[in-house]
Amino acid sequence: MTERGRRAVSSKGVLSPPAFFALPAGPAAGRLLGGETYLLTDQVHAMPESAQPPAPEFDRRAFRAALGAFVTGVTIITTCDESGAPAGLTANSFNSVSLDPPMVLWSLALDSTSLDAFRQAKWWAVHVLAAGQEELSNQFARKDTQKFAGVTYTTGPGGIPLLEGFAARFVCRAAFEYEGGDHAIFLGAVEVFEQAPRAPLIYHQGRYGGVFPAAPPAADEAESVAALEQRGLVETVDGILRLTQEGRLVATGLVALAGNSGLTQHETSALRHLVARLAA
Ligand SMILES: Cc1cc2nc3c(=O)[nH]c(=O)nc-3n(C[C@H](O)[C@H](O)[C@H](O)COP(=O)(O)O)c2cc1C
Repeated sequence: MTERGRRAVSSKGVLSPPAFFALPAGPAAGRLLGGETYLLTDQVHAMPESAQPPAPEFDRRAFRAALGAFVTGVTIITTCDESGAPAGLTANSFNSVSLDPPMVLWSLALDSTSLDAFRQAKWWAVHVLAAGQEELSNQFARKDTQKFAGVTYTTGPGGIPLLEGFAARFVCRAAFEYEGGDHAIFLGAVEVFEQAPRAPLIYHQGRYGGVFPAAPPAADEAESVAALEQRGLVETVDGILRLTQEGRLVATGLVALAGNSGLTQHETSALRHLVARLAA
């Protein structure tokens, strides 16, 4: 087991992390999650040197782009170092792990200036950012700045900084640290959580965004029909919903307008949803 693997935050009397990263050197033996040892015999697994396909060159940039296809929220994770100074950074590697007990995880680059602070931390807090907190996200994603400059915060357990304006916040007791390549993976037991009625900030392919519902929920459709009925644009005849004469005029105008603007059906629908959301 490597030094880093062994130093899981296990002072709380909880389980040691599984040693899946602690493969003995060489291809002939390994360790399963449960601690059982298995052997890979040369006869079964080894291929003659000439038969092995050349290792494809790893395209780091393509890998990052592919990972960027996975849409995430944005969090700021905070703690304080041994001297009590606040530490934190922007992270989108946050994810849920367990409901019972409630646990979450995230990963931190090994070259992070906050690594030592998080390694010794007994507590840390995850702030799920709300739409409009892009600037704060950028501030906590810069290495060279005073990340907490101009930021108001209160303190939580162990003196960790707690920020405001979040969509959700999880105050966690540090539970485990795992090795994850060039990142350290931290698991926390959620002790306190809060949610605010704010839309979350979204991150996709290196850009911020917002939540945009794909289609109105079915309940809204019934509401829309009722509203249009009241406006005299649609009517139900023999149990069938149809446009009234006025409705047909309005609809024809709308379709022509969309056609003239060169919008596709998908774009028209997106615009309609956006207008509905902004008008709400
Ligand atoms: C949206 C976004 C998500 C990020 N996610 C992570 C992450 O999950 N883990 C990480 O180590 N760095 C992540 N970063 C980069 C760090 O925020 C950045 O490297 C920061 O400067 C680290 O600061 P530090 O070295 O002072 O800890 C992210 C940056 C952005 C903008």
